[in-house]
Amino acid sequence: MSPARTRVSPHGPRGRPGTGVVPSRQNGVRVSPYDPRCHSAEGTRSVIPVARCPSALGAMWSPAPLCALGRRRPGPSAPLQPLTRLLQREYRQKTPTRLLQREYEAKTPFCLPQREYREKTPFCLLQKEYEAKTAFCLLQREYRELPLPGQGWGRTQHLPPRRFLSKKPKSKRHPKTFPVLDGHVPAVYQHVFEENLRNSEAVIKRYSELLERVKKGGGEHAILRHTQRNKKVFVRERLRLLLDGIGRICGVWCVFIASDATVKGGTIYPIGVKKQLRAQEIAMENRLLSVHLVDSGGAFLPLQSELFPDKLHGGRIFYNEAIMSAMGIPQVAVVCGSCVAGGAYVPTMAEESVIIDKIGTLFLAGPPLVKAATGEDVSPEDLGGARLHSQVSGCSDHFAPSEEEAYECIRNVVSTLNCEPVPEQDREPDSPLYSPEELLGLAPLGYSCTLPVKLVLSRLVDGSRFQEFKATYGTTLVTGFGHVEGHLVGIVANNGELAHDAALKGSHFVQLCGQRGIPILFLQNTAPQPAGPASISQAEAHSNRLKAQASMMAAVACAAVPKITIVIGGCFGSDSYIMCGRSFSPNFLFLWPNARVGLVDSQHFPTVPPAGDWTGEELELKQLKAKLEEESSAFYSSARLWDDGIILPQDTRKVIAQCLEIMEQKKYQAVSPRPQPIIRM
Ligand code: COA
Repeated sequence: MSPARTRVSPHGPRGRPGTGVVPSRQNGVRVSPYDPRCHSAEGTRSVIPVARCPSALGAMWSPAPLCALGRRRPGPSAPLQPLTRLLQREYRQKTPTRLLQREYEAKTPFCLPQREYREKTPFCLLQKEYEAKTAFCLLQREYRELPLPGQGWGRTQHLPPRRFLSKKPKSKRHPKTFPVLDGHVPAVYQHVFEENLRNSEAVIKRYSELLERVKKGGGEHAILRHTQRNKKVFVRERLRLLLDGIGRICGVWCVFIASDATVKGGTIYPIGVKKQLRAQEIAMENRLLSVHLVDSGGAFLPLQSELFPDKLHGGRIFYNEAIMSAMGIPQVAVVCGSCVAGGAYVPTMAEESVIIDKIGTLFLAGPPLVKAATGEDVSPEDLGGARLHSQVSGCSDHFAPSEEEAYECIRNVVSTLNCEPVPEQDREPDSPLYSPEELLGLAPLGYSCTLPVKLVLSRLVDGSRFQEFKATYGTTLVTGFGHVEGHLVGIVANNGELAHDAALKGSHFVQLCGQRGIPILFLQNTAPQPAGPASISQAEAHSNRLKAQASMMAAVACAAVPKITIVIGGCFGSDSYIMCGRSFSPNFLFLWPNARVGLVDSQHFPTVPPAGDWTGEELELKQLKAKLEEESSAFYSSARLWDDGIILPQDTRKVIAQCLEIMEQKKYQAVSPRPQPIIRM
C-alpha cells in the first residue's frame, strides 16, 4: 500500500508548532496529519523519511516528540545519526517561529508578572538568601569578581573556583609542628583555681539535680499512666530504641523532636514552639534530617494567644516543614500517640510517616469534640486510628504493629534517604596534654577570678598544640589555629577586656578564617560594661575602641563559615555580640554551668550590708541584685532557649568535635534543593 503523501513545513501544523507535519490533501480532500487516513496499514504514520528527504526541510521531522506522546515508535528503518540530531535540534531552536515565540513569551504581560511572582515566593527568597550565604557561594562570588592581570573588574571567564569542595574526607592528620601550650597552673593562681573549682562543683550539682527533674517528665504518676494505662513507651526510652547512640541513625546525624506526653498530654507551650523552631533552624543550617516522634494534644489551649497568631508561632513549624522539604532536607515522623489539631499536621507534612497500631491516632478534633458537635460517640481508633490512616486516608505511609517495629521501620526509611555519614578516620587524634577535668578550676566564678585563657585552650586542642596569631599584639584577645579531634578550627578567646588593639586583631583573624573556610570557635568570657569615661582622653580612647569593636562585629557577622560559641565565663553587654552571642547567629551556642549572662553584672552594684536594719533604698538594691543574680544564671538562660544548652567543661572538647562533624555532614548528602516540597497526595 502506497503511503499517503504529506507536506513537510518548518512551521509545523497549525496549533502544533515544531512537529513539522502539516495538513495535506488526499484525492483533493484536505486531511490532517493526525487523521487516521494519513496512516499506513501497519498503523504507522507516513512521512517523507529524513534520509531520503531532498530538501533541508526534511531535517525538521523527528519522531521523538510523537514517541513521547505515544503515537509512534521510532522505526529501525529511519535511524538518526547523532550529528543529524544535533543539527535538527539547533535548527529547530533557530527557526523564525521559535525565536519569535520565545521573544513573545518573554514579553507577554502574563509571563512577566509570573516570573516576578516566582522570584518573590518565600521559598525562592529563602533559598536565594540561604544560597547567597553559604561559604562556597561567597567564595565563588568573591573569586569571580577578582580582576585578571590587565583586566578591569567584573570578568566573567569560566575559571575553576578558588577552592574545590571535595566529598573525599579530609585527612585529619596534621603536622605536629604547632607550638605546644604550657598548661601548668602557676602557683600564684592556685587559690583562684580552688575557688573556681568549688563554685564549679556547686553549679554542676545543681545542674545534675535539674536534669534529673527534667528526665522525670510529668512525674512518676504521669509516667505510670502513660506506660501502664496508655500502653506507651516513655519518650526517653523511645529515643533509646531509635538511636544508634547520640543523635544518629545509621551513622547519620539527625535532629530529633519528640513530644513528652507525660507533661500536659504532650501539648505545645510557647516555649515548646520556640524549641521546635530552633531545632528546625539547626536542621536547615546544617542540612540535617529531622525525625519527629509525635504524641501531642496540639496547642496548650489556655496559652493560645502566645502560640497561635504571630509569625514565629505554631504555624511556622508547618511552614518550615514545607520549606525544608523543598530545600532537600528530609523529614520523617512516627505517630506514637495522639496527634490532635496542630499535632496532626507535623506527621501529615512529613515526607514519610509511620503510625503505630492502637497507640497512634491522628485527627483535627478528637472524640470529645465530635460528641460535643454532633452528639455522636466514636472511638479514637475509628475516628483516626492506625488502620484508618494506613488503609483509607493515606495520611500515614507505614503501619507498625508495635512501637519497636515502628522505630525499626523509621530506621529503614532513613537508610533510603541517600544520606552518607561522615566517613570515619583511620587515625586517633592526639589528646590534650592536660586533663580536661582541670577545666572545672578554670571555669571562672566571676570576672575577677578569670585565669589566662591559654590554660583552657591547652585542655581543649589536640596535643595542646596551638598556632597563635599576633601573639604579642592586643593580648586581651587570644587568636590562633588548633585542631579539635582532628578538625582544624580558628579560635577566638577572650583574655581580658576587649580593648582597641584586641578588637582589631579579632577582626583581622575572623576575616582570615572566613577567607580560608575554617570554622571559628569563640570562647567567650566578656567583661561587664566598663564605667563611663572620667576624662576627655578616656572618652577618646572609648570612641577608638568602639570603632575597632564595630569592625570586629561586622567581620563576625559576615564571616560565612560555621561558628560555635562557648560561654566559659561572662556573657556581658555589647562585647558578647562581638564574641558571636545569640544575636550573631552562631551555628551552636553552649554555656558552661558557671556562665553568667546579662547586660550588666550584679557584682558591679554597690554592696548591701549583710543584715540588720536596711533602709528602703538598701532593701530595693538588695532585691534588685538578687533578681539580676538569678536572671544572669546559666540555668535561667538555658531554660529560655537563649542558648542551645549547658555543657560540662570536661565534655567541651567532645561537644565541639561533634558539632564540627555535624556541620561537615552536609557535604555527604546527595539530595539537592527542589522547586517545591514533597506533597502528600
Ligand atoms: N490544652 C491544655 N491542656 C490539655 C490539652 C490542651 N489541648 N490537652 C490535654 N491537656 C491536659 C489535660 O488537662 C491533662 O492535664 P493534667 O495533667 O493537669 O491533668 C493532661 O493534659 C493530660 O490529659 P488527659 O486527657 O488526662 O490524658 P490522655 O492521655 O487521656 O489524653 C489527649 C491526652 C491529648 C489525647 C487528650 O487530653 C485530648 O484529646 N486533649 C484535647 C486535645 C485538643 O482538642 N487539642 C486542640 C488543640 S487546638
